[in-house]
This record gives sequence, structure tokens and C-alpha cells, in this order.
Amino acid sequence: MTNAPRSAADDAPLRLLPKVELHCHVEGTARAATVAELAAKHGVPLGVDDPDDLYTYESLADFLAAFATVCSAFVEAEDFHRLAYEAAEDAAAAGTRYREMFFSPGFHLDRGIRFDTMWSGIVAGIADGEADHGVRTRLIMDIDKPKGIGPAMALLEVARVADRDILLGIGGDSTERGVDHHMFEPLISEAKKMGLKTCFHCGEDGPAENIAIMVEAGVDRIDHGTRLLDLPDLVKRVVDEQIPLTSCPSSNVELNIVESLEAHPFAKQLDAGALVTLNSDDPTFFRFDLADEYERVASAFDFDEATMLKIRDNAIDAAWLDDSDKAALRAELGA
Ligand code: HPA
Ligand code: ZN
Repeated sequence: MTNAPRSAADDAPLRLLPKVELHCHVEGTARAATVAELAAKHGVPLGVDDPDDLYTYESLADFLAAFATVCSAFVEAEDFHRLAYEAAEDAAAAGTRYREMFFSPGFHLDRGIRFDTMWSGIVAGIADGEADHGVRTRLIMDIDKPKGIGPAMALLEVARVADRDILLGIGGDSTERGVDHHMFEPLISEAKKMGLKTCFHCGEDGPAENIAIMVEAGVDRIDHGTRLLDLPDLVKRVVDEQIPLTSCPSSNVELNIVESLEAHPFAKQLDAGALVTLNSDDPTFFRFDLADEYERVASAFDFDEATMLKIRDNAIDAAWLDDSDKAALRAELGA
């Protein structure tokens, strides 16, 4: 019942390389065994005999249904603590040393879980995960885009009470289909007024125009941005302004957003001068971790060591840390 067999060996150089990750969902790190145990504890039906079977899909829509089922196993603060703690344990095994990680309250509030229950559990879990496994984690609150601007603004209000040393920013995830991204312009401007950083999933299962809308709205990072190259003027702006992309090539292959890693635009985006970073998105759901992702991408595009280091360093540049913290992280992670 382990759903994360590693393909990059324990001593593979890209596993040992100290890494930074900017696009990973805490719920997307849930181990099948943990989900099974917690679902049994709370009497939550998972609809499958073997929880490993939850983690199969052919599209983003299938994936989001599985994601919601996995979320339903997490009820008490101690469950969220375990989720975040195990996320740090698994991240350490992938060589991740610093991570800005999403959590998605929409999937939990819907089930009657209080914001404070998930927040206090996750915050305690990342603290213990850092103490025991050396992975520093900060959080990004994701709003569920299809719910619309009303629930998104309401969540932003809830986030006012969150410890701002831990909550660095907000994002938006789920499908782009049928979602007019213009509606999120006030969310981005209000978040900025609150001093929060902003990012948005876009150009994943939607067109490059959604990236253009969110760039115009002023987001600090684009999550995925897979379709960026479809709009040359936008490429120029994203490159000129060095707006980071948190790319997740293997996730895009798994969800049939692109046909294969080789066909993924990651290498072309890098060549065009974009500040692209590599990320695992939902590692247990896709059965690989960040070290595997580095290995796969290096092999698909025949990238040499210097290129992989540049990609790693891009993630330090794109992190939401101030300049002195970035310099310290750069020194700590070395070459
Ligand atoms: N895209 C959209 N929604 C998500 C993702 C993703 O990559 N991961 C978790 N929720
Ligand atoms: Zn994502």
C-alpha cells in the first residue's frame, strides 16, 4: 500500500542535490496507507477496497475527484498534522530542503472542517517535520477556482488571522474549464493589499489567454503555464519581467495535458529565457517525487548537470523569500 516507489536511486546525484520546491499540494502528498488508516478511524467511505486504487485517472477532472476523496479522510487537527509531517519526511527523502506548499481549504470547509483545525494541524506538522527532517516549509492557501469569487474573497478574510511568517501567499487551483479568470482580479489586488504574494494555476487545462489575464492582474508566479508559448507577446513579457513558472511536466503527462515528457514545452520555455522551475505537484498521486521529476526531465531533454543546477537555482530565485534569506539559502544549498 505504498504509492510512492522511487525511480531515482537513493544515491542518484539528482536525489542528493539539495532542492527547492514551489508547486506541491499538501493533500497531494497523502500516502495511501495514511488515507486508509484515517478513513477507517473516522468511518469515511473511500469507495475502493485498496486505497492505492484511488490514485488512478486519465484527466484533471478524474484527478480532482480522487483528490476530493483523499481529502475526506482528514478530519481532526492531528490528521492534518500527520499529513504535513509525512509530507516533510517524504520531501527530505527527495532531497527537498525548502518548500512553499499549497493547502486547499475549499476541499475541507465543504465537509464542515473548520479552517483553524486544518491550519493548526498543518502548521504543527510542518514545524515537527522541519525539526525531525530538516525540510523548511511555508504555506500558500489555494482557493478553488470553480467555486467563484465569493468563496475566494471569504477565504481571504479567514486568512487574515493566519501567522504571516508561515502563510506567504495565496493561489488558485482546480480546472480552468468554464472559469472566467477575469473574476479573480479583485482577489489578487486585495491579497496584495494584505501583503500576501500571489500565484495562480493557469495555462494547464486552459488556454494561454488565462496566463495573460493573471499576469495582467499582477500575480507574482504562474503555476504550470504549460500553454505559455502559444502567445509570443506574453512570452516576451514573462521573460522580460522574469515572472516565474512553477512547471510540473510529469503531472502534465499523467493528466494528459501533454502527450509525453519529450513533447512538454519545458525545454523550449527554458531556452526562451523564462524563469522555469521543476516541481512534483501531487507526488503520491503520480507515484514519483521531486528527485524522480529531476531525473525524468534531465533524461527526456538530455540536460547536463549545469542545466539541472540552473533549474534548481531558478527555484531559489523564484522563492518568496527576501534577498538576505535567498542568499542564505543559496549558500546553504551550495552547488
Ligand atoms: N491543477 C489543478 N488543480 C490541482 C492541481 C493541479 O495541478 N493539483 C491539485 N489541485
Ligand atoms: Zn498544482
